[in-house]
Amino acid sequence: MSYKNILEEIEDNILTITIDRPKKLNALNRETIQELHNAFKEARSNEEIKVIILTGSGEKAFVAGADISEFADFSPKEGKRLAADGQEKLFNYVANFPKPVIAAVNGFALGGGLELAMAAHFRIASDNAKMGLPEVSLGVIPGYGGTQRLPQLVGKGRAMEMIMTAGMIDANQALQYNLVNHVTEQEELLEFAEELANKIMKNSMVAISAAIKSINANFEAGVNGFETEIQEFGRSFGTEDFKEGTSAFLNKRKADFPGK
Ligand code: COA
Repeated sequence: MSYKNILEEIEDNILTITIDRPKKLNALNRETIQELHNAFKEARSNEEIKVIILTGSGEKAFVAGADISEFADFSPKEGKRLAADGQEKLFNYVANFPKPVIAAVNGFALGGGLELAMAAHFRIASDNAKMGLPEVSLGVIPGYGGTQRLPQLVGKGRAMEMIMTAGMIDANQALQYNLVNHVTEQEELLEFAEELANKIMKNSMVAISAAIKSINANFEAGVNGFETEIQEFGRSFGTEDFKEGTSAFLNKRKADFPGK
């Protein structure tokens, strides 16, 4: 499918989605959020796609936030709907996506941009990246999961400081904060993301889906993550991937996972 605000490229089982509004620093307007939802939904059922890399167009920004021009005159009711719709369509959808999603943060990741990167399963950044949740400087709070996911990743005190000051941290500080896993030079960012994707794809994608679900369970209110793990662990024993993985090991050969 072709889109107005995002680009898609599938190569070697990796779908790279590039948010493509460089003149607006890839700010997330409603249309872009819908297009991202559609692209992820399609990727869910496309068996060719095993890993998704999410990045921004141009050299300056991953995503500089939700599009401020769209919500400047919203009422409280409209604001609430904006956050709820966005969380359901994109941010929670990405966080719970059954295939690995890597955010390749190639510049500014602010507000909704950082929230999108945090919804991805993990993040890598280029050395020019700058991250922050500046919403309180606009008189609002993060509404796409930022008040929940930032403390999960960096700890409560650091999240409080980042959100209260509305300040930005650079890539190295983000690395120190565990907000990103790796920092590369900008020209090497996507190649590095692809290397990680290739490492992931050597393993059982069925088991990886189960691992994503179990890890996420730790962060869901009212869910016992240990119980989810037991269920998913048990379920693994019924998969073709499990039979292939264990028999390959016992026969001292490389596993060739059917992905079922
Ligand atoms: N929403 C809407 N438009 C945005 C935007 C956003 N979140 N972020 C950037 N843009 C637009 C700018 O309005 C500008 O558009 P214009 O050329 O039509 O005037 C264009 O993108 C380029 O941005 P500009 O501010 O000129 O670039 P800069 O290099 O001077 O500053 C930033 C970069 C990221 C520091 C600055 O754009 C910024 O502070 N953006 C908003 C960040 C934010 O508060 N995000 C949270 C939103 S909830």
